[in-house]
Amino acid sequence: MYRFNRIIAATALAGTAWCGAVQAQGTVEVLHWWTSGGEAKAVGELKNAFEERGGEWIDSPIAGGGGDAAMTALRARVVSGKPPTAVQLKGPGIQEWAEQGALNDVETVAGEENWDQVLPPALAGIMKYEGDYVAAPVNIHRVDWIWANPDVLEEAGVDAMPTTWAEFNAAADKVEAAGKIALAHGGQPWQDATIFEVVVLGVGGPEFFRDALVDLDQEALTSDTMVASFEQLRKLRGYVDPNFSGRDWNLATAMVMRGDAAFQIMGDWAKGEFLAAGKVPGEDFLCAAAPGDGFVLNSDSFTFFKVSGEERLQGQQVLASLIMSPGFQETFNLAKGSIPARTDVALDKFDMCAKRSHDDLVAAIEGDTLVPSMAHEMAVPRSVRGEFLDLVTEFFNSDMSAEDATQSLAEAVTRAQQ
Ligand code: BGC
Repeated sequence: MYRFNRIIAATALAGTAWCGAVQAQGTVEVLHWWTSGGEAKAVGELKNAFEERGGEWIDSPIAGGGGDAAMTALRARVVSGKPPTAVQLKGPGIQEWAEQGALNDVETVAGEENWDQVLPPALAGIMKYEGDYVAAPVNIHRVDWIWANPDVLEEAGVDAMPTTWAEFNAAADKVEAAGKIALAHGGQPWQDATIFEVVVLGVGGPEFFRDALVDLDQEALTSDTMVASFEQLRKLRGYVDPNFSGRDWNLATAMVMRGDAAFQIMGDWAKGEFLAAGKVPGEDFLCAAAPGDGFVLNSDSFTFFKVSGEERLQGQQVLASLIMSPGFQETFNLAKGSIPARTDVALDKFDMCAKRSHDDLVAAIEGDTLVPSMAHEMAVPRSVRGEFLDLVTEFFNSDMSAEDATQSLAEAVTRAQQ
């Protein structure tokens, strides 16, 4: 049976041999959107490691959680004929750029380092185009998490993290009654879509999630389960404070840290924020899987655009090898809040939330309850995701009924596919 962390050690040896052969040089200009406290710390680890190998790192950060601004900047760069050397990109976006012939592959590095044997097959498939690796994954993020401030919960008389949406609503009511904000949230389309997909998983289960948000099945999209999901999203809207509009996700995390709010529903990059602020899991903050079976997968990876010049081409190969090296995967993910993409990195230094993520991931792979994130570009083309984001945000910011939202969403998804 597939075991996420017990994969043959021989691959590590092959990796070492290849690393020795790579000249420690090259230049990379890296376009990414990691600008919050935890994110900047994590990408700093990548920069340092690359420079330690003798390379030159040119940083091109484009602020904006979820990466929408970065993707707009990327398009402009490619259109002007000056793509960055390496770009943080994911899911179907990798395939879309590869189809346009914009990407170099890193097949030589991947072959010599046996990436196939150290990556979960579900992830390896996303990194490949027509059988060749065109992206290198740095991590596995889980989207369906609830973060909480234990002191706020205690003051409100909430004695356990909620395991169903009904329990969540009851806990949130208690927090509000105690005079605190129940749900810290930032009103940006990708954040609205993040809590929407987490609710869909909890209300409908992984099979429904897959039918509706991945396969875009009209029956699922127009079902009563989708109506129920929007109804729960409406409940969540009621638990958010009036100043949520446009707020960045990390500022919402800070509200939980400070004890202004009880909960945040967000992927485990939020844990990177807690850790960067010196907070300890289980003491200063709590993590729990959001209600429902399954695991919403989000993985960050880097792609290598077609650039000219020996230095840059060399930089791409060195960066790909570095990203997949076991030592780097450990250091980076300790800061980022995620777990390594490689299956053979020991988790001894990782905290309880990371270990929970790993165990739940293994169970989800075995139980076929692993689902790719729609909100974080792992599931559907950008055009379709855009329709989801628009509709969910419109719902969140209006008094649209759950029935109307369900119908409009199904229509919008159909339009996007035509
Ligand atoms: C990325 C994370 C990032 C988060 C917030 C997600 O889509 O996968 O790496 O921290 O957005 O910016």
